[in-house]
Amino acid sequence: MSSLDNIKRVTVLGQGVMGPDIALSFALSGYEVTAVDILEEPLERAAKKTSLNCQQMVEGGILTEQEAVSAQNRITRTLEWKESVSSADFIMEAVPEDMETKQDVFSRCDALCSKDIIIASNTSSMSITRIASKMKQPERAITAHWTIPAHLSPMVETVCGEKTSAETKGLAFELLKATGKHPVLCKDTPGFIHNYLQFALINAALALIEQKAASPEDIDSVVRNGFGLRLASVGPIQFLDMCGLDTVHNVLKYLHEITRNPGYKPPEVIREKVNKGELGVKTGKGFYSYEMPGSNEFWAQTNKGIIRTLKSFRET
Ligand SMILES: NC(=O)c1ccc[n+]([C@@H]2O[C@H](COP(=O)([O-])OP(=O)(O)OC[C@H]3O[C@@H](n4cnc5c(N)ncnc54)[C@H](O)[C@@H]3O)[C@@H](O)[C@H]2O)c1
Repeated sequence: MSSLDNIKRVTVLGQGVMGPDIALSFALSGYEVTAVDILEEPLERAAKKTSLNCQQMVEGGILTEQEAVSAQNRITRTLEWKESVSSADFIMEAVPEDMETKQDVFSRCDALCSKDIIIASNTSSMSITRIASKMKQPERAITAHWTIPAHLSPMVETVCGEKTSAETKGLAFELLKATGKHPVLCKDTPGFIHNYLQFALINAALALIEQKAASPEDIDSVVRNGFGLRLASVGPIQFLDMCGLDTVHNVLKYLHEITRNPGYKPPEVIREKVNKGELGVKTGKGFYSYEMPGSNEFWAQTNKGIIRTLKSFRET
């Protein structure tokens, strides 16, 4: 297996919605990037998008003019598929979310790259075991699922298939960290963590629209100004600890009783914790442990993050 020091050139396959921002992320971290598509038009759009992204980052104060120019100079855009794949030290696939297309891309890369090169998929939902099933060396296949906008979002979900090697996982993690990302190892389950959660919310929002219970504008406003504001600082599980698991249990119980919606049935894990007195921040243990039960320290830390987000709301 290759090492991080040997990775100088990253090839990003597909320059639609995601590819250009992934390419820019690698370029911003000093990697030479070959951005490949099978059509001319996405490559032209990608160049404009990347230039605009850089301009916005400079205006936002997170990039200097010089860094923006250097990053853009590190990206080469091309239709030369074979040459770009065979000369890559790491392949990042961002082609359409279609199993056959991805299987075809992975097996062609497998045939062209030397055996120590990792081939990563940006699939949002599909099993990497299936994507890699036509490869001779499936141990070098892995999912690295970036979220939109990829050049700004730190999180990348990393998923190993049945045959992915520990070396592949280790090196993919190292590379993502070197690119300033926060890789999270997920199981090969449909939708992984991000889309499993995100689409639960999206489906619930769409149900409100279908029931004429809320307008699209009101739903977006409630999420952005309500729990959306908090989510960048406190995830949903830590939120339960903040809220108090006894309170959460009572809310769910009430909603379940009046709606009979099985989605509200208090999960066993909540009942168990409430029975053990593990109520979250207020008792010092919930899903996480807290050194000073009920102390103001915890609130001070989380509020700091929320204030940062609130300030950015006011600036825009
Ligand atoms: N759009 C999103 O919000 C989003 C977010 C996260 C992950 N993803 C995932 O990223 C991947 C790409 O999604 P997208 O939205 O950028 O798709 P897209 O359809 O916008 O772009 C795909 C690009 O790949 C090109 N392409 C097709 N076959 C190719 C090949 N063999 N080699 C090189 N290029 C090829 C197409 O011409 C197109 O420009 C999908 O797996 C998707 O699920 C998308």
